[in-house]
Amino acid sequence: MGVKVSSFGKIPSGKETSLFTLINKNGMCLEVSDYGATLVALMVPGKDHTTTDVVLGYEDATDYWNNDGYLGATVGRSCNRNGGANVTIQGKVYELPKNERGKNNLHSSPDGYDRMVWNYQVDEEHLSVRFYRMSPDLEQGYPGNFEISVTYTLTEENEVRIHYHGVSDKDTVANMTNHTYFNLSGHQNGTILNHEVWIDSDAFTAIDEESIPTGEICQVDGTPFDFRKQKRVGAEIGADHAQLILAGGYDHNFVLNKEKGELKKIAEVFDPESGRRMEVSTTCVGVQFYTGNFITEGVQGKEGAIYHKRSGLCLETQFFPDAVHHENFPSPILKAGEPYDSVTIYKFI
Ligand code: GAL
Repeated sequence: MGVKVSSFGKIPSGKETSLFTLINKNGMCLEVSDYGATLVALMVPGKDHTTTDVVLGYEDATDYWNNDGYLGATVGRSCNRNGGANVTIQGKVYELPKNERGKNNLHSSPDGYDRMVWNYQVDEEHLSVRFYRMSPDLEQGYPGNFEISVTYTLTEENEVRIHYHGVSDKDTVANMTNHTYFNLSGHQNGTILNHEVWIDSDAFTAIDEESIPTGEICQVDGTPFDFRKQKRVGAEIGADHAQLILAGGYDHNFVLNKEKGELKKIAEVFDPESGRRMEVSTTCVGVQFYTGNFITEGVQGKEGAIYHKRSGLCLETQFFPDAVHHENFPSPILKAGEPYDSVTIYKFI
């Protein structure tokens, strides 16, 4: 029990980073780092009572710096894609980095929150670590000085609770997510194709050939995107469906059957092999269900693991991608002076 702090290595600037290890009474263990406010490891008991690390990750901050895929990363100020890499706020156009295909923006990169070293505050009593930083006006192109914090808490109910809180002094975009790849059999234990998934969603946002939403909201009924009954990830991932072909698997925003701000269970993942079950609850309106289609083949992970396509799956809670360009999507614009609050909980059964 308690919170242990250790070194997590240096980034090229020479800046030191730290790793925080949180352990609850059930022996569940969460490791997070101030490098990118990253979720690095999550040791969860399975049906045979062995404890296994169920998230993909790298060994230390240097490896995170040198690799891609946003493993366990805190993504902000705005996650996922922005077509044309711009946003218009109060009539003014703000240009964002064009880090995808030379024209779109993905995950507010290349110098996103996932590559920053955050300030931290440890709360031993509540098994939590709060990472915080002041994201200056026009950082990544977005207007407003944005005071943002990400608090990870490991509860005695085997939940990882992630709370984002922010305030900006100008209207801005606030759409934070966590990009953890889960493999409930263990991070080095094959693919997630036999995991069974349930998502409380009747519809998803269709994408074009650049993975930018077209604006169309498609019903899941009668398609491989229907996860309203628990289904194997691999059951229809190879189906001849234009949207699956475009993304090389699932990599879509699911429209959640809930109101914005309401904290509600929206997804479950069950791994028959280990018996582990994960429930996902969120206050967000959307979730990106991503089946690791673009994991760099053969990339070296932590503990000597080698990762492949589909080694892990992500459930990234969010506003819908490219929402700033679609009036029919809920708006991710945060008004100056108003609080941004968002909670996502990954609970293990
Ligand atoms: C996801 C995104 C994928 C891919 C991945 C990072 O959020 O939907 O298309 O870019 O991040 O590799």
